[in-house]
Amino acid sequence: MEVIIQPDAAQAVDLVARLLAERIRARPDIVLGLATGRTMEDVYERLVASRVSFRECTSFNLDEYIGLPPDDPNSYRHYMQVHLFSKTDFRAENTHVPDGAAADLREAALRYEMLIRLAGGIDLQLLGIGQAGHIGFNEPLSAIRSRTRDKCLTPTTRAQNAEMFGGDADKVPKRALTVGVGTILEARELVLLATGPAKADIVARAVEGPITSMISASAIQLHPNCKVVVDEAAAAGLQARDYYDFIFANEPEWSAYR
Ligand code: F6R
Repeated sequence: MEVIIQPDAAQAVDLVARLLAERIRARPDIVLGLATGRTMEDVYERLVASRVSFRECTSFNLDEYIGLPPDDPNSYRHYMQVHLFSKTDFRAENTHVPDGAAADLREAALRYEMLIRLAGGIDLQLLGIGQAGHIGFNEPLSAIRSRTRDKCLTPTTRAQNAEMFGGDADKVPKRALTVGVGTILEARELVLLATGPAKADIVARAVEGPITSMISASAIQLHPNCKVVVDEAAAAGLQARDYYDFIFANEPEWSAYR
């Protein structure tokens, strides 16, 4: 794992957007794993502005609320349409979001896993991190080998996402269909972005704490090609930041980003 600390959220977002655009230009038919949430809104805005072409790309989103149809303004399919798909040349048939409105969720989950496999697996998985330590909607005690399935959301996550539901946590759906931790770990590259002081504690626990299913994001420590990009505020709890800064300042791979 490499941890990249940027002075502020805008620069952390910029770095991630640049890295993604570079990967897409290097491999136009890349298979992307995409995340939603407030942190990613700015990443998508930068990607749209970069004018990189998504024409040959395939995407798989991490998660969707159960019970929300794709055209519901709070669905993650709608979020992706608004922030990325409708503003780029992504082909609709190449974009995938779990079907939270499926009558048979188990079948929908198995199908999603199969579609990822048929696409050749995910090349680059973009991740945020929730205050409950989740990646996707893999709430505490999600098995590190878990696959796409339905998951009950924690009160912490429902409170975190209440803003999008008029500030009322009770209106946030109780369950979601999410790609599993095991599915995420099979992506060829992981890029996790976290910004702001509210993420400082959970980032420190995920990056430097023990690997535990209580904090699903700690499973990224098992991944051989993982980058964590944070701003100063989200980096505040990290112990080894001098070393992370040294790597960013010296490793040739980061020379274009310094
Ligand atoms: C959503 C997802 C979640 C979010 C996380 C952070 O698709 O995968 O894990 O990335 O909840 O959300 P924000 O950015 O709103 O703090």
